[in-house]
Amino acid sequence: MNEAELIKTAKAMVADNKGLLAMDESNPTCNKRFAALGIPQTAEMRRRYREMIVTTPRLKEGVNGAILYDETVRQKLSDGTPFVEAVIDAGIIPGIKVDMGAKELAGFPGEKITAGLDGLRERLSEYSEMGLRFAKWRAVLKIGDSIPTRRCIENNAIVLARYAALCQEAGLVPMVEPEVLMEGKHDLKTCLSVTEQVLHIVFDQLHKQRILAEGMILKPNMILPGSDCSEQSSTDEIAETTVKCLLRCVPASVVGVAFLSGGQSSKLATERLNAMNKKYKPKMPWALVFSFSRALQHPSIDIWNGKEENIEKAQQALHHRVKLNAAACRGEYKPDMEK
Ligand code: G3H
Repeated sequence: MNEAELIKTAKAMVADNKGLLAMDESNPTCNKRFAALGIPQTAEMRRRYREMIVTTPRLKEGVNGAILYDETVRQKLSDGTPFVEAVIDAGIIPGIKVDMGAKELAGFPGEKITAGLDGLRERLSEYSEMGLRFAKWRAVLKIGDSIPTRRCIENNAIVLARYAALCQEAGLVPMVEPEVLMEGKHDLKTCLSVTEQVLHIVFDQLHKQRILAEGMILKPNMILPGSDCSEQSSTDEIAETTVKCLLRCVPASVVGVAFLSGGQSSKLATERLNAMNKKYKPKMPWALVFSFSRALQHPSIDIWNGKEENIEKAQQALHHRVKLNAAACRGEYKPDMEK
């Protein structure tokens, strides 16, 4: 493991109050988004969509890195440039999703475990040769009647730590994503206690399995009431609770925390990130940035709608969203900037 190199990459991923663009939807997820808009669900349309994203002018003004998907890193832009090269040329650090999705956890109805450890060492070595510098793995924890169970959290934490160890061995920065889902009727307090438990168990495993904390990025959920909870919380409450949770659980040696958006609207995700940085920046030992997928890609995917003639407008919308989120990383976002 080249510790200095890992630390350098991790720092660069969250430097200068900029975040990361998640464009790593698996084919089924990407197809689902296309289906909703009537866009053909083909490898070529996914390639065109990703080309629209990575050729967005001045994307690097708001993002330091982009998470790609296996299909994309084997594809090329229309001019023949491989995607990884195009991302690097755009001044952006290329990363890759390496998990194989959340599957049913045998013996634990309603709970999931993430697959993808088999053959991971070989895949990581190939990705490293392709020029990819970091790798993401998502674990999924659902809040419901008596779930998540401690065993489910522990199993996922062990797997996350094994993946992270393999990443660091291969020289890729692990982006560790234990997502507590927003779906459900639970309240803010429940999300806080579950996320706190999850993060404690995850960091315990990361430590036990000798992960270099300075050479990783945490990608957590914000602390939110469930989407079906009758009592929704204010931006200030969410910001305060989320920062409290992270301060309790995330070691100061971790250089960056980059949120997933999890189904929040683009505007709310930006507003909440902004509130955290505006009020609590001096208290936080790590950079607090974004690694959104849906909250960044909307509304540009709607504008693009699979059509060549909409590319420029879609890119403008993406650039605008990215800049708003960079402003939120500085705590300088204001709602009237949305116009
Ligand atoms: O793994 C999930 C993505 O990287 C983040 O997606 O921002 O739409 O929740 P999201």
